[in-house]
Amino acid sequence: MKVSVSFIKSKYNERETIRFIDQTNADYLHVDVMDGKFVTEKNYTFGQIKEYVKETSKKLDVHLMCENPHKYIKDFALLNTEYLIFHLETVNNPEEIINEIHSYGIKCGISIKPDTEVIKLKPYLEKIEQVLVMSVEPGAGGQEFMPEMIQKIDDLKTLGLTNFLISVDGGINESTIDYVRNADMVVSGSFVCLSDNYQEQINKLR
Ligand code: DX5
Ligand code: ZN
Repeated sequence: MKVSVSFIKSKYNERETIRFIDQTNADYLHVDVMDGKFVTEKNYTFGQIKEYVKETSKKLDVHLMCENPHKYIKDFALLNTEYLIFHLETVNNPEEIINEIHSYGIKCGISIKPDTEVIKLKPYLEKIEQVLVMSVEPGAGGQEFMPEMIQKIDDLKTLGLTNFLISVDGGINESTIDYVRNADMVVSGSFVCLSDNYQEQINKLR
């Protein structure tokens, strides 16, 4: 099980948190970007993120919770980004965004909110490298895992496609991890970053 760690909810400030994550064997640093439109909260500017990620050599798994993903692609292409993920709900022409992300040599992910059905992703699945299944409403760390989302992992699995990784984001901890064993990756924020020993928490998830 791959683990991507989100730093938005932590006992420490962003730089310190990212430095601690860097010292673990986490596979990715998950960067949550909130624009105050698609989700209520607005968190970081690109300038801030650019400074924060200097604290790590981890590859970035960037989760755009933003109304207009196009606006962010060029910027994040400048960083150590492996996956750039946009929300299906935010665009009229997903293919255009997929192509734009790929044009920078970056892998593309699409995320769906709890209310969005997997079937809506169908036309794009062969073209992308990650599906990010939200297991909480996007917008904040520290929320409770929604067990109804487990079915989405199985639905994606039964398609038999191997070009994309299935990641689950929200409310992942040492108990809920057992529900998502079929996924390829989990995003974990508060479970790791509110603890005193990040590596120990990651070990529990793996
Ligand atoms: C939610 C974010 C998640 C969140 C995960 O809007 O996309 O990445 O930070 O945090 P936890 O693990 O605390 O649910
Ligand atoms: Zn996220």
